[in-house]
Amino acid sequence: MKGVILVGGLGTRLLPMTRVTNKHLLPVWRFPMVYYPLYVLVEAGIRDIMIVTGGNSPGDFLELLYDGSEFGLEHLTFTYQRGAGGIADALRLARSFVGDDRCAVMLGDNVLGGSIRKHVAAYREQRSGAKVLLKSVHDPQRFGVAEIDEQGNVLSIEEKPEQPKSDLAVVGVYMYDQRLWDILPTLAPSGRGQLEITDVNNAYREAGELTADVLDCDWSDAGTPESLWRASQIARESEFWRQADLPTGQNG
Ligand code: G1P
Repeated sequence: MKGVILVGGLGTRLLPMTRVTNKHLLPVWRFPMVYYPLYVLVEAGIRDIMIVTGGNSPGDFLELLYDGSEFGLEHLTFTYQRGAGGIADALRLARSFVGDDRCAVMLGDNVLGGSIRKHVAAYREQRSGAKVLLKSVHDPQRFGVAEIDEQGNVLSIEEKPEQPKSDLAVVGVYMYDQRLWDILPTLAPSGRGQLEITDVNNAYREAGELTADVLDCDWSDAGTPESLWRASQIARESEFWRQADLPTGQNG
């Protein structure tokens, strides 16, 4: 399975911190934000990763990550998304990289307090379709929100609903098969002028091809001052990150 990490966007909710740099280079506890999604995918066994950047400072990702070998990667590939077309638009740039494989997509501003290894393993067992991860939160209005039945089937996903049907946020980690490439061209821009990842997930759901797991570790996005602070707390308090073997930058 290939990995795709999205580190584009303008980071406007974090101005002025994002005025001269990319949001995903800002510190979360003691590492640059992009280290977190990168290590989480590597720890789950994904060794071939593409970084889709955009907005400010794209070259800094190269200087920070080099060829990815410090993370144990076999290949690290970069591309650049022009404009602010949204997450689903950025994914189109990963098509030839993913090729005939399946992919795990992670939003670069998502910080987890633990491993996704078991969810990736469960998806590998799933013959086709997609998997999303869910987490109970106190402010679901900020996220994609999933309604599930007692068997865990996803009944609906709504993007930033004013009246959420549950408190289960859709985490920014998604696993997709080849159907993704048929879905992307069918999407229309949302009210915020973007191609929404929630529309991709709903297309899988309508086809009966979406599974969902509830995360049992902590999770935060890091796209607002409050959530950036929370992400640092999660990283600092988590055994997973204390033990993580991350590049220290001491080797030049
Ligand atoms: C995006 C997705 C949303 C998801 C969230 C997770 O929101 O659109 O469905 O719950 O990431 O971080 P955004 O950060 O673009 O507002």
